[in-house]
Amino acid sequence: MRCGMEKTFSFEKLGQDGKARTGVIHTTRGDIRTPAFMPVGTAATVKAMMPESVAATGADILLGNTYHLMLRPTAERIDRLGGLHKFMNWDKPILTDSGGFQVMSLADLRKLTEKGVTFKSHIDGSRHELTPERSMEIQRLLGSDIVMCFDECPALPADRDAIAKSMRLSMRWADRSREAFGDRPGHALFGIQQGGLEQDFRQESAEALRNIGFDGYAVGGLAVGEGQEAMFKCLDFAPDMLPEDKPRYLMGVGKPDDIVGAVARGIDMMDCVLPSRSGRTGQAFTRHGVVNIKNVRHKDDPRPLDENCTCPACSNYSRAYLHHVYRSQEMISGMLLTWHNLHYFQELMQGMRDAIAAGTFEAFQKTFHETRANGDI
Ligand code: GUN
Ligand code: ZN
Repeated sequence: MRCGMEKTFSFEKLGQDGKARTGVIHTTRGDIRTPAFMPVGTAATVKAMMPESVAATGADILLGNTYHLMLRPTAERIDRLGGLHKFMNWDKPILTDSGGFQVMSLADLRKLTEKGVTFKSHIDGSRHELTPERSMEIQRLLGSDIVMCFDECPALPADRDAIAKSMRLSMRWADRSREAFGDRPGHALFGIQQGGLEQDFRQESAEALRNIGFDGYAVGGLAVGEGQEAMFKCLDFAPDMLPEDKPRYLMGVGKPDDIVGAVARGIDMMDCVLPSRSGRTGQAFTRHGVVNIKNVRHKDDPRPLDENCTCPACSNYSRAYLHHVYRSQEMISGMLLTWHNLHYFQELMQGMRDAIAAGTFEAFQKTFHETRANGDI
C-alpha cells in the first residue's frame, strides 16, 4: 500500500469573492469541494438514507460523532470491524466531532474538571469519561479523516468571566489534543476557536490555536441560541482571526440563510442536522422557502415540492403523495424528504461555489434572498 509519496491533507484555494472563498480540500479518501456542507451521520448512518444516496446528493464528506459511537456500538468494536468507513459503507472522507459538545447537551450527571468530563450515558446510564487523550484515541479507532479537538462550549448567555474560563480550558485541551493526536499522515486535526461573542476572547483563542498549529480551524460556540444577528456580528470578525490558508469550519450551522451569510464571511465548511431532521418531521427546504408537507392544503396538490428540483422526491412524486405518506407515517416520507433536503443544501453549496469562482457572489446572495418567501409556501 505505502509508496512513500502518499497524498496527505491539503487545502487549495481556487477563488475568492469579497470574503467568500471557494476551493478544494484534498484528502486520501477524495476531494472535498468548498464551501462544503456535511450531512450529519451521528450513529453511523445519515438517518433514512443509503450512503450511496447521500453521495448522489453531492456530499463529499459526512460528520460522525465520538459521543454516540463511543457509547454504542463503541469505538473498539468499530475498530475490530475495520473502522467507521467500512462499518457504515461510506468510503469518502468522514469528520468526527470530539464529544465535548454532545456530552454537555445530551449526557446526564456531567462533571467537568481540568482533566476532562465524566458523565452518565443518555442511553443506559452507564458512567464514562472523556478527556482530550481519550477523544483522540476514539477518533483514531473510528478511522476519522478529520479529527476535532476536545473542547468545551459554554451555554449562552454566560458572563464574560465564565466564557474566558471555559475558552482557556478549551485551549489547554487543544494543546493536549495536539500532543495526543501525534503525527498521523493522511489524517487531519482541527482546532476549535471559542470565546462566545466577545471579540477579545475570540482573538485570544485564535492566537492560542495558531501557536499550537492545526490542519484546519473551526469556529465553535455559535448557533447556541444567540440568534442570527448576533452570530453574524461575531462572524464579521472571528473567521478573519484564523489562518487564511487553512479551511475554516463553522460547527452546527445551519439554516440556508445562515449558511449563505457564513460563507459570505469567510467560512468554508459547515454541518447541521437540519436537512435530515426536518426531512423526518415533514419540513422541506426549497428555493422559495420552507414547505410544511403536513399542511392539509397539499392534500390534492399534483405539483412536485419544487418544479426545478431534480431529486427523486420532486422528479417522481406529487405534494399530495408526500402529504399522504407523511400523514400515514410511512417510512418513505422521511426517506424522500431527507433526500430532497440534502439535495437542496448541496445544490445551494454548488451555486455558491460557482458564484464565488465567477465573481458573482453578491448577485447570488441577492437572488437567494429575493426568491425566498418569508412564510410557509
Ligand atoms: N458543534 C456545534 N458547536 C460546537 C462546538 O463549539 N464544539 C464542538 N466540539 N462541537 C460543536
Ligand atoms: Zn427535490
